[in-house]
Amino acid sequence: MATDTIGTILYTQEDIWQRAKELGAQITEDYRDKELVLVGTLRGAVMWMADMMRNINLDMTIDFISASSYGSGTCSSGNVVIKHDVELDVTGRHVLIIEDIIDSGNTLKFLKDHFAHRGAASVKICTMLDKPSRRTADVYGDYIGYTVDDLFIVGYGLDFDQKYRNLPYITYLEG
Ligand code: IMP
Ligand code: MG
Repeated sequence: MATDTIGTILYTQEDIWQRAKELGAQITEDYRDKELVLVGTLRGAVMWMADMMRNINLDMTIDFISASSYGSGTCSSGNVVIKHDVELDVTGRHVLIIEDIIDSGNTLKFLKDHFAHRGAASVKICTMLDKPSRRTADVYGDYIGYTVDDLFIVGYGLDFDQKYRNLPYITYLEG
């Protein structure tokens, strides 16, 4: 079995928690008096979702959505399908999507439209990582943990072939 080579640690869980605290304080200010729904994207955003929800000091509801885009190889296409939708009614509520990483932007473009069509009062994005070098869709993160270079990131929820999601830090695969 081929073994992957893991790079150096980019961010430790302490770094990430600290960043979640900063963004959480900002979101707490921005969403005061608004009906907030946090929607985590499965499965990559689980750890970031847990960090963000503990750092936003407001009444909120939470839900999860699972979407995937089918394309060739590691490049995602614009063909996004929802595999598991939220159960909460988002009509008139302010949706904050908690995402692991924005790469091409195709998935989030689709999800933003999805919630807008469902009648959300607003739809914004809080992403742990932003990889702007590969963006093709017109979408951006409203709250960004860290901006990364064009690396294949693993750990802290992010996988390669379903492996490495459990690493308690953010690293990358040596290519
Ligand atoms: P999109 O290209 O912005 O639609 O990204 C779709 C999804 O691909 C992200 O939400 C991640 O789950 C996954 N993805 C993109 N870049 C990486 C990476 O560097 N490592 C692991 N997963 C990634
Ligand atoms: Mg994702």
